[in-house]
Amino acid sequence: MLNFAVRVAQEAGRLLRDRLGSRIDISLKGAINLVTDVDLASEQLIREAIATHYPKHQVLAEEGGLVETSSDYRWIVDPLDGTSNYAHGYPVFAVSIGLEYRGEMVLGVVYDPMREETFTAERGGGAALNNRPIRVSSTAELGSSMLSTGFPYDIKTSRLTNLDHWANFALRARALRRDGAAALDLCYLACGRFDGFWELNLGPWDTAAGAVIALEAGARVTDFAGNTFSVYKPEIIASNGLIHDSMMAVINKHES
Ligand code: IPD
Ligand code: CA
Ligand code: CA
Repeated sequence: MLNFAVRVAQEAGRLLRDRLGSRIDISLKGAINLVTDVDLASEQLIREAIATHYPKHQVLAEEGGLVETSSDYRWIVDPLDGTSNYAHGYPVFAVSIGLEYRGEMVLGVVYDPMREETFTAERGGGAALNNRPIRVSSTAELGSSMLSTGFPYDIKTSRLTNLDHWANFALRARALRRDGAAALDLCYLACGRFDGFWELNLGPWDTAAGAVIALEAGARVTDFAGNTFSVYKPEIIASNGLIHDSMMAVINKHES
């Protein structure tokens, strides 16, 4: 199933890459939340591949939602993570495919077609980038860390803007990034490019593959209170483990 997920993620990713910069139809799902015909084409390709190879499995994908069956397997798919980047021609985006079995994430694949980077993990089998094992960083201090995050699509109307955490971390970490693709943020944590990642309002498709890849690379992944992360929870702190308590302290405002 991992080989299947890699093949399909790469095929969908090539579709995204081939159509980058061409005329795309962009619609709004919310005030600043975009969807393009390319998100839909990528999702259709992935849904068709799953229907052909695993017709009984459930599929939860961002644009079409959940197709529930009695199967213990559920594919959780973001056909294009980084849609705003994509629509603006900013080449940071990915396809994310995770597989849940009886409520537990068992594998994840994130494919970045611009860098030809395929991140993979199977529960208990470690994580890899282009088939080479990866590990989280060994940065032990928040002050030496590079962190990443994102801002919620309802930032203009919600009380929870993430701007407070952004400001607090900007004063304490070495550097912050907002790169616009949560699945890649988690993979960059997994291979040590980032030391930590937090976000407030993600969907299961954003984190399903990335969280299992990060965990298998040695990351600690929790909610803001330090409880075990679930892809069905909107908030996430993921780190190399060493700076996790400091990140939780900043987020919960009893300092670092
Ligand atoms: C978004 C990206 C972004 C994150 C948003 C997500 P999309 O996914 O992962 O980094 O900040 O919360 O919704 O809409 O590009 O698939
Ligand atoms: Ca996404
Ligand atoms: Ca998406």
